[in-house]
Amino acid sequence: MKNIAVLVSGGGTNLQALINAQGRGEIVNGEIAAVISSSPDAYALERARQAGIPSYVLVRRDYPSSQAMTAALVDKLKELSIDLVVMAGFMTIVTEELFEAYENAVINVHPSLIPSFCGKGAYGLHVHEQALAYGVKVSGATVHFVTQECDSGPVILQKAVGVLPDDTPEQLQRRIMEQCEWRLLPQAVSLFCQDRLKVEGRTVKILGG
Ligand code: GAR
Repeated sequence: MKNIAVLVSGGGTNLQALINAQGRGEIVNGEIAAVISSSPDAYALERARQAGIPSYVLVRRDYPSSQAMTAALVDKLKELSIDLVVMAGFMTIVTEELFEAYENAVINVHPSLIPSFCGKGAYGLHVHEQALAYGVKVSGATVHFVTQECDSGPVILQKAVGVLPDDTPEQLQRRIMEQCEWRLLPQAVSLFCQDRLKVEGRTVKILGG
């Protein structure tokens, strides 16, 4: 059984999708062992509390540097015997210490079809504002391994939805969450926990099934 830590900063709807999937037995060979929030006010902490999952708060401003905060994060993950780190709307920059300690074991969900609308400044609602401003006809979500370079790690799963003519950023965000993120993230986590993800260069092979 693999121990999963979910890193959050805000509402935590992706955390909730993972909790719900776990409740349905869809996280095979894995258990959400901890929720770590970059903000003491994140509603995700309330979701963790309701699900009976231990939670921790790690605030960047409590540390002199991003490196120092990342080192504290790695210490906590090791102390909790975490095998998989899931970034689910985690909005704090972490440094290489995390990827050295957890090589090919940190995954992130991003609300666009990477490599579109990603990188610096592309987070949360901004991603959907950028997609609408560009005029794309499809957008979606990507679950990928996290590497040092922002939003650039090997892609695990992607799913697209149509962009409708009068979409607002909020409507597009909601459609992508419901139809893409909340489905893909639990699937990717379950595949990881079953050792079914094999990274070969930039490509992730999905084994078996
Ligand atoms: C989600 O849409 C997630 O994909 C996005 O933030 C939202 C968090 O929502 N993440 C990024 O933009 C990362 N670059 P949630 O707290 O309700 O899961």
